[in-house]
Amino acid sequence: MESCRKLLVLLQFLAATLIAGVTAKPVTFFNDFRVTWADSHVKQEGPVVHLILDQSSGCGFASKNKYLFGRVSMKLKLVSGDSAGTVTAFYMNSDTDAVRDELDFEFLGNRSGQPYTVQTNVYANGKGDREQRVNLWFDPSADFHVYTILWNHCHILFSVDEVPIRVYKNNQARGVAFPNHQPMGVFSTLWEADDWATRGGLEKINWSKAPFSAYYKDFDIEGCLAGPSSAACAANSGNWWEGAAYCQLSTEQARMYRWVRLNHLIYDYCGDKSRYPVPPPECQAGI
Ligand SMILES: *[C@@H]1O[C@H](CO)[C@@H](O)[C@H](O)[C@H]1NC(C)=O
Ligand SMILES: *[C@@H]1O[C@H](CO)[C@@H](O)[C@H](O)[C@H]1NC(C)=O
Repeated sequence: MESCRKLLVLLQFLAATLIAGVTAKPVTFFNDFRVTWADSHVKQEGPVVHLILDQSSGCGFASKNKYLFGRVSMKLKLVSGDSAGTVTAFYMNSDTDAVRDELDFEFLGNRSGQPYTVQTNVYANGKGDREQRVNLWFDPSADFHVYTILWNHCHILFSVDEVPIRVYKNNQARGVAFPNHQPMGVFSTLWEADDWATRGGLEKINWSKAPFSAYYKDFDIEGCLAGPSSAACAANSGNWWEGAAYCQLSTEQARMYRWVRLNHLIYDYCGDKSRYPVPPPECQAGI
């Protein structure tokens, strides 16, 4: 009897999930992603996806589906040793050219022993130029760490091992663009960008250290699948990622976020007077 009830509940849950157009778990590389750039440089090694950059090519992969609101996370282990000039990225992108929405995590390599920089950016309705940079409080090439993008109607939250490093609030009421209707795919790339990545382009990639490797695993995506029911799914305030606990930082998250801003923030476009003599409206609206 009891197990019958459990099965029924499970079936009801699955039906509700399917009707709502919410993604089913678990996400696997094989089922949910495809290689987008340089097959020969992407290797699947058990549960781990290994990206390779050498002088012939970088590489990348992307989700087969797009998602409207939700949470995406994966574990990354970045290029070790002398990674100057390399950029490893994990981002979401609507792929809609002029009115593109995009949420970026970019990991900028460095000379051996010097700290990695994490750059985040938010494009809404075609406009980006909202870079922030933090350095990490651990060596991200020594082990896997969790990188997460939470996107709901309240805000976009970038976290590292559950520590918030950036919050982009929904300030639509103040006329600030916020991605709210275009589903986005999930992308990863490893490439060379030594014209800007490390100390503004001063540090060049050292090809004698190639190949460079970055590793990805434990993909998790929960959100509204793009398709005929995505708008209805996204409007459902019952989706867990829209819940009160995800709409604002908890006391502990707020404490950690302040700690990151005080100790690890190295650049914030909001404070860049030479670029923005008048701070953009989302900066004036406060964080
Ligand atoms: C690399 O290390 C230098 C020296 O510690 C630091 O100034 C810089 O912000 C680091 N990151 C990048 C991407 O240049
Ligand atoms: C590049 O790597 C080689 C081999 O480790 C080393 O001898 C050389 O000094 C490095 N060049 C730079 C600019 O760091």
